[in-house]
Amino acid sequence: MALKKDSFMGTMIFTVTLCLLCSFMITGTAEVLKERKLVKKRDELMRNVLIAADVDLSGQDFRALFAKDVKPFLVSLDSGEAQSDATVMDFDPRMASINPETSIKLEKKQDKAKIKTRANQVRVFKVFDDSGKLTSVVLPIYGKGLWSMVYGFIAVKPDLNTIENVVFYEHGETPGIGDFLNDPEWTNQWHNKQIFDEKGKVSFKVVKGGAKEGDVHAIDAVSGATMTGRGVQRSIQFWFGTEGFEAFFKKLKASEV
Ligand SMILES: Cc1cc2nc3c(=O)[nH]c(=O)nc-3n(C[C@H](O)[C@H](O)[C@H](O)COP(=O)(O)O)c2cc1C
Repeated sequence: MALKKDSFMGTMIFTVTLCLLCSFMITGTAEVLKERKLVKKRDELMRNVLIAADVDLSGQDFRALFAKDVKPFLVSLDSGEAQSDATVMDFDPRMASINPETSIKLEKKQDKAKIKTRANQVRVFKVFDDSGKLTSVVLPIYGKGLWSMVYGFIAVKPDLNTIENVVFYEHGETPGIGDFLNDPEWTNQWHNKQIFDEKGKVSFKVVKGGAKEGDVHAIDAVSGATMTGRGVQRSIQFWFGTEGFEAFFKKLKASEV
């Protein structure tokens, strides 16, 4: 029996078919975009790590450079133990830091960076030169500025003290006031500054009014925006302290990683 187009059944079949077609198209597009988003996220990660390690990217294929010179590790912050396998690049640090099963709640006294919870694991990157010699270790840092979480990577030289470079890749500080974080003139000050003093205490400072000439631990704050700078200083104090990279650095120094 032929189905009449304008019958009740005909209308229902047309509507259901159209709905199914649209939902397939939406799901398909979402899947394709998800894949693209992941690729973009991974590209940004690779670029930021290379910039933090002060690698010159001009005219270079950053993906090839990353694959050749960078080895990612997943580090347990409590034990300092590190592992490196194909899954490390898929680690989601933000999810890890908010999931109660993969993070710890920080006491107010411990929480210098004002992050409330800290993931049990972080992803770090060893960077090598063409001869296979370690040139720097790139570490993730984040903490509260004045208005927002400020996310960055800092690279330290193999002495695990001298700063190679820093990059702040995400924040919500005020444009024109707190966004000096992305000004190369300001970040250039970080080169060759030291995190720890001779007693091993975290001594890096962002100084209101300007760092003293020759102070190896200090850089200038930006006048009228010292709160953001203070937040960055607190992040460094937290991440290079007991709840941060301390156990990992011990293992690295003992050549156990
Ligand atoms: C609308 C507005 C936005 C501001 N944004 C920032 C900011 O993003 N970062 C910051 O450190 N200070 C910001 N400030 C300034 C701070 O409130 C504060 O005055 C400043 O950080 C103190 O720096 P100073 O001690 O050098 O004066 C802002 C102020 C106003 C009124």
